Amino acid sequence: MFDSSASDTIDPRELRDCCGRFATGVNIITTRTAEGDHGMTASAFMSVSLDPPLICISVGQGAKMLARIRESGRYAVNILSEGMQRYATHFAGRPDKTLPDPFHDRHGLPILKDASAVIIADVVRQLEAGDHVIFLGRVRQLETAPAAPPLLYHSGQFGGLAAIRSA
Ligand SMILES: Cc1cc2nc3c(=O)[nH]c(=O)nc-3n(C[C@H](O)[C@H](O)[C@H](O)COP(=O)(O)O)c2cc1C
Repeated sequence: MFDSSASDTIDPRELRDCCGRFATGVNIITTRTAEGDHGMTASAFMSVSLDPPLICISVGQGAKMLARIRESGRYAVNILSEGMQRYATHFAGRPDKTLPDPFHDRHGLPILKDASAVIIADVVRQLEAGDHVIFLGRVRQLETAPAAPPLLYHSGQFGGLAAIRSA
């Protein structure tokens, strides 16, 4: 846990808005437990190390995904391309009942069929970080589709490369 004594002057909303100026890609994190398959939209993903191959994600304390990953000990990062915003909102707590099952089974995990790339990792370390938990993962499998323009997230809005260039 981190010392929070110095944080009283930082307003959480301001911090979120400020960090939101940092454009990110958008992923669906997936995992599988006895309870079933679970997906969650996440932008907090980072490539950490190439050798050994390590990545990390950050999961909110309030997310159902937290207990699921703790139980399974593994997760997949499914990277979205432009045009896949529907998945991003569906797995961010706004379920779309008309969405057909987007997953297929790969390496014992539910994987998004149309993902631009997929990174499958085993959890090697968990770090309690305030209202989130960081999961450091050792990469076990990679899958890439032909390169496609990415779905981006910036200042609370989805977009694409061209939209950001002309803004
Ligand atoms: C673009 C975007 C990025 C998000 N990134 C994260 C993230 O990195 N970590 C996180 O815990 N929640 C993130 N969220 C919020 C979760 O997707 C949301 O709370 C979701 O409903 C949690 O699902 P669950 O409770 O079913 O696991 C993000 C939401 C959006 C729309």
